[in-house]
Amino acid sequence: MPSSHRTIATLPGPRGLPLLGSALQLHPRTIHRTMEAWSHRYGPMFRVRLGSREAVVLADAEAIGAVLRDRPDGFSRPVVTADVTRELGGLPGLTLAEGDDWRRQRRMAMQAFAPGFVKAYLPRLAQVGVRLAARWQGAAAAGQPVALSADLKRYAVDVVAGLAFGADIDTVNAGTHDLQDHIDTVLAGVARRSLAPLPYWRWLPLPAERRLVASVAALQAAIDGFVASGRAAMAADPALRSHPANLLQALIAAADEPGSGLGDAEVAGNVATMLMAGEDTTASALSWLAWLLAHHPDALRRARDEVRATVPDLALITPAQADALDYVEACALEAMRLKPPAPFIPLQALRPTVVRGVALPAGTLLWCVLRHASVDEALLANAAQFRPERWLPGGDATTPAARQAVLPFGAGARTCPGRYLALLEMKVALVALLGQFELDSVTAAGGADPAEVLGFVMAPTPLRMTLRPRAAGPGAGRLNAA
Ligand code: HEM
Repeated sequence: MPSSHRTIATLPGPRGLPLLGSALQLHPRTIHRTMEAWSHRYGPMFRVRLGSREAVVLADAEAIGAVLRDRPDGFSRPVVTADVTRELGGLPGLTLAEGDDWRRQRRMAMQAFAPGFVKAYLPRLAQVGVRLAARWQGAAAAGQPVALSADLKRYAVDVVAGLAFGADIDTVNAGTHDLQDHIDTVLAGVARRSLAPLPYWRWLPLPAERRLVASVAALQAAIDGFVASGRAAMAADPALRSHPANLLQALIAAADEPGSGLGDAEVAGNVATMLMAGEDTTASALSWLAWLLAHHPDALRRARDEVRATVPDLALITPAQADALDYVEACALEAMRLKPPAPFIPLQALRPTVVRGVALPAGTLLWCVLRHASVDEALLANAAQFRPERWLPGGDATTPAARQAVLPFGAGARTCPGRYLALLEMKVALVALLGQFELDSVTAAGGADPAEVLGFVMAPTPLRMTLRPRAAGPGAGRLNAA
């Protein structure tokens, strides 16, 4: 490595304790906020000790873009998360795969989540939205609050299961809430263990750790059920081998090819991956969006008017109508700018490299802080405020510099393959909400503002929503049954 480069030791950073480093200052539930605060204090690149590991924290948009694009060869996801997952029973999937395994799985996921494929799924996605609205109607008529966060998670699980596995599981209504609870427990457990300074669970089988192990087993059983259904559908219609109808069938067909490099574990692992990657992320983005709209009456009115003028009947929504929801999309992007489900992306250097003039040896943990440049006053006027208009043509969020800084779905080869589905899913949920109801309030328990809680994603503390049936007028009450 040329001597002109600085070493990590020259970087500023918080002074930690011997052995523990800064571990005591970093709580897993709020670590994102601490890293963001430290980015202001120590600048766009600093170092921090996480127990025995040293991490380099990066908050500079240009440098973050470069490292995210230097994948899969230059940077991987941190091996700790894959290790934690393996220790829990090993469910390899696209999110944690690396190298050639990742390339093979990624190709299939990109086909299954391609815009054309997702558009073709719109009528079924709309039915899941219709079911969500139907669930809310009783509460709205009775003036009862709805458990918004939990309902949105079920909605997200149903949407992913329908698209990726061809399964109509209806967790929104059927009372089969277990699946979503187990997903939540596993996501929180993997995040907790990945950030722990020591593998305490090996010595201390705390109740939360025992629940985690039980949820992994239950999730595995549910996944086996999806895979068995996928195989049964393919046995009944062998043409699906050459023309799979969804990601699960594509994975099964590939796994059954001799020498494919994919096996049953990868099939099951990707079923788990899609459930986990698609549930909390979208549900969290939607929860924050509903909360922000409830607190910004002008934006709420404009979004509601657009929904009602553009989509007269959710059950019959067309791709053209969904595309025309420009203001709703702007609201979604603005909510994810201020409240990103993924406020940071941790990476690990696969080879010696240089970032902002600092030499990073292979293996360096690089923590990319995404919510820093995206809320910078130098880039966006009133950057802390919710202003969806900034995403409309000519707005300050549409400049190249802003686009580089606001990365809710990551960037580069590993950018989120579910992003198109996620945006469409958010639009359908908002049509379900604003098309049929008047939104009165969205709050955390006791009427408080929600806190940011980091688990697998950054979510609000559970939200409750109060609604009223839509005031009479053209289109009111039109909600075709699923
Ligand atoms: C609002 C919703 C969502 C947000 C904010 C989000 C965000 C992200 C982010 C930040 C990444 C990491 C990207 C990177 O490393 O550059 C990611 C990866 C991923 N997302 Fe999403 N996501 C969302 C919805 C979904 C959905 C609906 C699915 C699929 C069902 C999905 C599947 C995945 C997968 C499989 C990866 C790993 C890709 C890889 O490593 O190659 N996501 N997502």
